[in-house]
Amino acid sequence: MSLPSPRPAPQQPPRDLPRLMTTPPILAMTGISRRFGDVVALQDVSATVYPGEVLGIVGESGSGKSTLLRMMNLEDSPDSGDYRLAIPGAAGNLFDLDRYRRRMLCARHVGIVYQNPHLGLLMGHSSSGNVAERLLIAGERRFAVLGGRAREALDASEFPLERIDARPIELSGGMQQRVQLAKAIALEPALLLLDEPTTGLDVSVQALVLDTLKRLQRDRAITMVLVSHDLGVIRTMADRVMVMRRGRVVEEGLADQIFQDPQHPYTQALVHAKL
Ligand SMILES: Nc1ncnc2c1ncn2[C@@H]1O[C@H](COP(=O)(O)OP(=O)(O)OP(=O)(O)O)[C@@H](O)[C@H]1O
Ligand SMILES: [Mg+2]
Repeated sequence: MSLPSPRPAPQQPPRDLPRLMTTPPILAMTGISRRFGDVVALQDVSATVYPGEVLGIVGESGSGKSTLLRMMNLEDSPDSGDYRLAIPGAAGNLFDLDRYRRRMLCARHVGIVYQNPHLGLLMGHSSSGNVAERLLIAGERRFAVLGGRAREALDASEFPLERIDARPIELSGGMQQRVQLAKAIALEPALLLLDEPTTGLDVSVQALVLDTLKRLQRDRAITMVLVSHDLGVIRTMADRVMVMRRGRVVEEGLADQIFQDPQHPYTQALVHAKL
């Protein structure tokens, strides 16, 4: 099976949010609730993502951000809720799919960067091997294509190609995140999920990774959901922002509006603490 060629970059990156939001959403989640024993991780959460935008999700530790992102990657199921993606082969409520179909759908169309690189990478395999493995899961079997595509994705993630054979365990945190990013974008995903992609990196490395994400967004107009507890990161990247607290969405809106005129007392406290 061969993989689709990378999509050409659009002439004009779609940054006009009001216009963007008139198109049908690529992602629609409604009424997601999830408990772990007595802990309510998510309570009636709904989320919408439009093609080409960056949705930022911010909130304190334990507010349910990672749980929500795992749902978007179909790694977990809610106690109740509905999930639709406007991508080929995705019909109906995706939580009704079996494990195999979920894995195939997400392997082909959804990329994810985990906060903890150990969750996203095979630490003992080469960096290019990590990216190739992702392509293999999606059905690519041609050896030459695997190598070429892995290299291309690592290059697009601004990974130094002379280190392509290095194992993630030998790499710095920033480089590990670039390998995760390469793996996530190798198949030109319709949706890129980023869970605290810069947390734990020092400020200068954080800025470099954010620059790479911004460039990818600009050049390829990849739809992104970016989770961070760092308002600065969200402000740099997001078009729209969803604020979570204790498993609920307390406020959402255009990024400018959230930062300049926050409505909910929790958002006000977050924004003022940052200023
Ligand atoms: N597999 C699990 N088993 C038990 N409890 C869980 C599990 N996953 C998440 N939780 C709980 O659900 C709540 C939300 O967790 P989640 O990881 O989604 O928060 P978060 O907003 O991502 O926090 P952080 O900013 O610290 O990463 C927490 O109370 C957490 O302990
Ligand atoms: Mg988390």
